[in-house]
Amino acid sequence: MLRFDFAQLDSTSRRASSLAKLNPGRPLVVSARAQTAGRGRTGRTWCSPAGGAWFTLAWPTELPAEAAGAAPLVAGLAVRDVVAELVGGGLAERLKLKWPNDLLLCERKLAGILCEQTLGPGRRTLLVGIGINANLAPAELGTDLRRPATSLQAALGRRVDVRELIEAAGEAVAARLSALERGGFGERDVSVLRRHLAWLGERVLVRFGERQVEGVLGGLDPRGRVVLETDNGPVAFDAGEVEGLRACGRRECA
Ligand code: BTN
Repeated sequence: MLRFDFAQLDSTSRRASSLAKLNPGRPLVVSARAQTAGRGRTGRTWCSPAGGAWFTLAWPTELPAEAAGAAPLVAGLAVRDVVAELVGGGLAERLKLKWPNDLLLCERKLAGILCEQTLGPGRRTLLVGIGINANLAPAELGTDLRRPATSLQAALGRRVDVRELIEAAGEAVAARLSALERGGFGERDVSVLRRHLAWLGERVLVRFGERQVEGVLGGLDPRGRVVLETDNGPVAFDAGEVEGLRACGRRECA
């Protein structure tokens, strides 16, 4: 895998897209110590000061569009596994995936993933942009009124090695994408994802565009769509964002 590391970029995803065009067919990871115009999902900006793990994996693939739709889910799982290994023990149990692929620790946002695609002649390149709040102090965390954020440093009380984290997470996402190419997205993936899903069995909102639907989070269907039990029966969503309606009550999470 090719690796490019920069002191500062506007966005690692933007640079990964141009570097992927210059290196056709080769997977690569682009990281930056800080980003000046980090991109988040649904057009949001992503606060990216020095100290975070900000990187993008460019993954050339022949997966058809529909199969590539599972990439954000398996990428979320890969990042969860690496962070769980790093935090260990009791904290790992409180790491949850907010569908489709936000990583929450004690219900606070620890990491976000933005999956995009570029189409070249005969092949697509997945751009998996990953932001992990690593060594950030509380005052440096982005503010999203919907969900407070946290960092590994705040949770562990020590700094982590950002380079190692990027290396491990890049490899883990690449391994999951290879597995997706070999075997597709199956029942096993769904059951692992389900195990780590935030608010399973609880009341949530699913927001998509201007609309929002409330119900109980029932799980995932075989395609990885999130299923909500609403007053009008089960509804499956393949896009949107899930938001829990309960605050975490644990004292240690305050
Ligand atoms: C989200 O939760 O909205 C997704 C955030 C993704 C942020 C990462 S940081 C590295 C990569 N470069 C970007 O510009 N965005 C992604």
